[in-house]
Amino acid sequence: MKIAWHQPAALLAVALVSSCNRDSDLVLSPLSCAEKAADGLRQIASTRDARFQGKVTEQTALCRGGEPAAARRSLPWVDWANYFATGDETSKSWLPTQNFRGVGGALVDLEYQRAELIKFNLFDNSGTFEQYRRDTGGKEGAAQKTWPQMRLPESDPHFTAVGGDGEQLCKGALIRSRTLNGICNDLTNPLMGSTGTLFARNVQFESTFPDLQVDAPADERDRTTNRHAGRISLLIPDPQVISRKLFTREQSDPAACNDGYGRPGLSKDSHCDYKQAPFFNVLAAFWIQFMTHDWFSHLEEGHNRGDYMSVGCASQKVNGIETPLTPADITRLGCRPSDAMERSYVADADGPATFMSGNKSYYARAPKTFRNTNTAWWDGSQIYGFDALSRARVKRDPHDPARLLMVQVPGANKQGDSQGYLPLLQDADPKNPDWTGQESVAFADNWTIGLSFLHNVFAREHNQFVDEFRRRTNKTPDADSGLRDPDAPDRVIRYRDLTPDELFEVARLVIAAEIAKIHTIEWTTQLLYNEPLYRGMNGNWNGLLEKTSSLSRELADVVSRLKASNRSLEANQYYSILAAGPGIFGLKSAAPGWSMAGDDNRRKFVNGGTNHFGSPFNFPEEFVTVYRLHALVPDLIDYRVLDAANQITSEIPVVETFRGRATPFMHERGLANWGLSMGRQRLGALALQNHPRFLQNLKMDRLHSPTQTIDVAALDILRDRERGVPRFNEFRRQYGLHQLTSFDDFINPNDTPLAQAEQTKLAKVMREVYGQHRCDRTKKIAYAQRNNDGTEIDDCLGKPDGSMVDNIEDLDTVVGWLAESTRPHGFAISETQFVVFILNASRRLYSDRFFTSSFRPEFYTEPGVDWVNNNGPAPMHETTPINGHRNEPVSPFKRVLLRTVPELKSELAPVANAFDPWSRDRGKYYSLDWKPRPGAESDPAFAVK
Ligand code: HEM
Repeated sequence: MKIAWHQPAALLAVALVSSCNRDSDLVLSPLSCAEKAADGLRQIASTRDARFQGKVTEQTALCRGGEPAAARRSLPWVDWANYFATGDETSKSWLPTQNFRGVGGALVDLEYQRAELIKFNLFDNSGTFEQYRRDTGGKEGAAQKTWPQMRLPESDPHFTAVGGDGEQLCKGALIRSRTLNGICNDLTNPLMGSTGTLFARNVQFESTFPDLQVDAPADERDRTTNRHAGRISLLIPDPQVISRKLFTREQSDPAACNDGYGRPGLSKDSHCDYKQAPFFNVLAAFWIQFMTHDWFSHLEEGHNRGDYMSVGCASQKVNGIETPLTPADITRLGCRPSDAMERSYVADADGPATFMSGNKSYYARAPKTFRNTNTAWWDGSQIYGFDALSRARVKRDPHDPARLLMVQVPGANKQGDSQGYLPLLQDADPKNPDWTGQESVAFADNWTIGLSFLHNVFAREHNQFVDEFRRRTNKTPDADSGLRDPDAPDRVIRYRDLTPDELFEVARLVIAAEIAKIHTIEWTTQLLYNEPLYRGMNGNWNGLLEKTSSLSRELADVVSRLKASNRSLEANQYYSILAAGPGIFGLKSAAPGWSMAGDDNRRKFVNGGTNHFGSPFNFPEEFVTVYRLHALVPDLIDYRVLDAANQITSEIPVVETFRGRATPFMHERGLANWGLSMGRQRLGALALQNHPRFLQNLKMDRLHSPTQTIDVAALDILRDRERGVPRFNEFRRQYGLHQLTSFDDFINPNDTPLAQAEQTKLAKVMREVYGQHRCDRTKKIAYAQRNNDGTEIDDCLGKPDGSMVDNIEDLDTVVGWLAESTRPHGFAISETQFVVFILNASRRLYSDRFFTSSFRPEFYTEPGVDWVNNNGPAPMHETTPINGHRNEPVSPFKRVLLRTVPELKSELAPVANAFDPWSRDRGKYYSLDWKPRPGAESDPAFAVK
């Protein structure tokens, strides 16, 4: 094949083919339809306001999805969701080539989005942005790979070890494994991603803090002022009013729910209504909480700073005018005016410097910055710790310090229980008093039975790996383990040479990588349950360049060349398309001369597989926003026991398992029953009026407030406002998505009449809460995008001048993405959340050398690499096809469960993805039906209500 390498779109097509080459039916170019001739290939946008927005031409839509796809182009939502074969069986065409174009076209659209996100949405807060924007010393800013801001400061105990005032380069013990506080993941940027570094942003700094409009460069300030016209502030619209009107789960039998506490005695007759997602289980809800505790936190040891603020329940709009709530309103709403909460920690609130570039003035950072008190790396820090206090809660087994301490629980005698349970926090352990009685783990906050389950499972899994390593040591003690010491890289380390500390750190690397793999190819493919995302996520983990591909070598050369290119933006786009995760490892492992001896080799080989795209890696505030997924949690767990899996024996309120109260529930009932219960139950859909009642009324003993109670759903709104997250419409414009023009845009014209009636009702409530105003076309409101005709977007959003329009610009981002009812098939999240995810999930892999160039036996050992690649000590495959894919490896979380809770074996046998409700019949091709699998017909969860 001859490829015009200078053309990004040509490369896109090739990347796509290489990503699909496992299936012989996908060897044609997806762009072979008439669209190619008619449109030419789209170029990556050169300016922000010319971005793709997920919208294609009519001809392309026709080609990839037929008439329905063409008809839906007028909606604000992305077009690929309407292409052939991107939904369930009914979305397929009878013509296989059309299905190929549909899925392939969706992947192409997603890659355009990702390339443009990398180009337009990286904003680092730590002082590198000016350099990124500018050309410095003849080198484009976006080609920077090392930043002075990422040096260790003199106060750091490792300052001298990494080079002090001279060039800094991590070496020796600092590069062998993941460090406690995350320094030295990148050898040449030791500070990057470490505990306490600043959250980044994905949106232009000038678009943050829309209610403050402090000192923004003048033209941007006008736009923000025009956009919100003084209508918004920290407490307006009122967060508790938003929570009560737009987040509350309506109950058919309020007494049976009792605000999430159920009836006394864990009665089976308790019941809380919630909107359920049929294809995602409760384990998946707690999984993502478990993940966020690895990635980020704004709090320190579970609290914020001392001074308190009101959290609303003060006013609402009456006839469009903000009016104090009357006592009767308060009673009717059920909110609490005397709730109060600690304010957020702020790292820096001094007005940011501005600089000029290309005749335009820019902020050098956001008006306020915040610290990530966790490591930003995907390093298992919720298990292994991220600072001295959290590490003190990580208990090692005194008999074999390579293992985590697990204790026997009296009376727990199921098959897996011999692997033990986590020990409890002791008086001497560092802890927030609220955590007394909990199991001892590094990240201990907001603990319930769900986190208890996952922490216990992965502590057992850590020990399973250590045991396997010990078995291999017994068998071949003198064999080369693969591990190397960077201080003596030529010395072979035999299995029997490994110290317990070395093995502990290897096990941490393995568990962290296994978790990242589970998240990427099992959790996410169920969260986004359709064929394009199945292919995309597997490509993201395995790399689009598979070793078996005949194109690999050629593409590998191109990737290396492009990566070295000084035309940084172009190189970044190519690179983002072609390379990913251990795909880069695949290239590096084949690289002749791999060695970690000497500084040059360390730079080139140990560190050389990462790509930060010109901007140091940390999560942006906007990422936290889209992970505010409290609606996933049910109020009650439908509790089952393994001996009678098809019965619900009690209803256990999640709130009754909050903090230390989880311990007796775990010890008396055991991992297997909790796994079964949470594995079979559907989680809460991410939708409006679907937040757990108990989280709106959560007692927190540490609070110095009259109620000692907090509405977590209201706090989600308030925290985003404190951190200056742009409101929903501007958020979408910033990420290259199409804006909305009224609350009615949330109504999905292709949904059932019943669903549309519900959406219409919710649009009305949004209008009531956020209000309307008379629009003025002279007021321009955005820079990030323009109207289709090239004119500036104004306050009327296409409606007649002077007409009453919805205050859609004021809508809080969390409310907006919860309201999105038009979603790609099988999407548990909205497209707005997804676009944040496309960018940051990729970066989280690209930036981490332990998933790229250091994913090697020299760091992981030979059994460690095998464990991650094979999902355990040896490969295992499913015997039945999954959504048309044959010979699939047994999914990694299912393998973990089979090892750590082996009594679940027969329950898990028919399960293809451990995050799909275990008793559901998955049908043929991405079905979302709620139907029992054979053997689960009598499960009451399937009873028609
Ligand atoms: C069921 C148990 C849960 C409880 C009791 C709980 C409680 C809380 C509380 C009290 C906060 C506020 C912290 C603050 O800003 O002061 C919070 C924040 C948060 N929660 Fe949850 N939560 C739960 C489940 C979840 C789940 C399932 C997710 C899913 C991802 C989640 C994601 C978040 C995120 C992203 C934040 C913001 C963290 C930050 O600002 O760094 N939570 N949660």
